[in-house]
Parts: sequence; C-alpha cells; structure tokens
Amino acid sequence: MLRAFVNTALGVLAAGLASVVGRFALVPRASARQQWFRGASLGDLDPDTPFPAVLAVARDDGWSRARVNETVFVVWDGLTGIRAMSATCTHLGCRVRWDNGAQRFKCPCHGGEYDAHGNVTAGPPPRPLLALAARITDEGDVEVRL
Ligand code: FES
Repeated sequence: MLRAFVNTALGVLAAGLASVVGRFALVPRASARQQWFRGASLGDLDPDTPFPAVLAVARDDGWSRARVNETVFVVWDGLTGIRAMSATCTHLGCRVRWDNGAQRFKCPCHGGEYDAHGNVTAGPPPRPLLALAARITDEGDVEVRL
C-alpha cells in the first residue's frame, strides 16, 4: 500500500517536472521574437547621414532577463525612405562609428571600413553590416526591428 502511494507520488512529480522542462525546451523565448523599437524621430536626422540610435532591448540570459543597449545606425533619405543597419562589425564584433569626413563606417579594432550602405571597403570584415528593417511611423518616429 505504502509502496503504491510512493510510486504514484513520484510519478506525479516526474510528470510535472517533465511538463515544465518540456515547455522551456519547446516554446521559443520572448527574446527570440523580433520587435519594433523606437530609435529616433525624423527631427533628429539629417538626410543621408547615418544616425546612431541606442535601443534598450530585453535579453533573456538563462533564468534572468536584462536590458542591454544595442546600437544601430538609421539613415533617412530626406523624403520617405529609411534604412537601418547594425553597428556591430562583422569581423569580431566591435562597434563601428560613422566618419562623416571620410563617408565611411570605421571599426576601431582592426581597421575595418564600410561604405554608407554597410558594404565592406577595407580591412578584415567578411560581410557587410547587418541590414535591419526600419519604418517611419505616422507620428514621425523611426522604428527598427530587432
Ligand atoms: Fe572590426 Fe576587427 S572587429 S575589423
């Protein structure tokens, strides 16, 4: 009698634990979904000049969640066109900055350079800067999808 009760209780506990572990294994975490983040307003931007926008993004890290700052560049064409790209160098992940005089994104780590569209023009980066979806809202805000 006691053995049957203990076995039943252990079975119920194992099933409960399996359902919790299975949920984490099968359901995508919230951070895996892309979201739109406000990066700037059109009033902040000069036409055809990359603008660095810092986005506060929630990231799951194991059992905890933290907000991290992601820097992206947004470029407005002066009319209705907007585009965005990551500020993370595709070589080893340093943050690039825009050099307006040279009209290039420059990476401070190993001399990587990119043109205004994020294409590699010099140095070791193997790929262009990551292009990101961007849009202008009816309120004149620029949003970027991460
Ligand atoms: Fe940018 Fe190496 S990390 S060139």
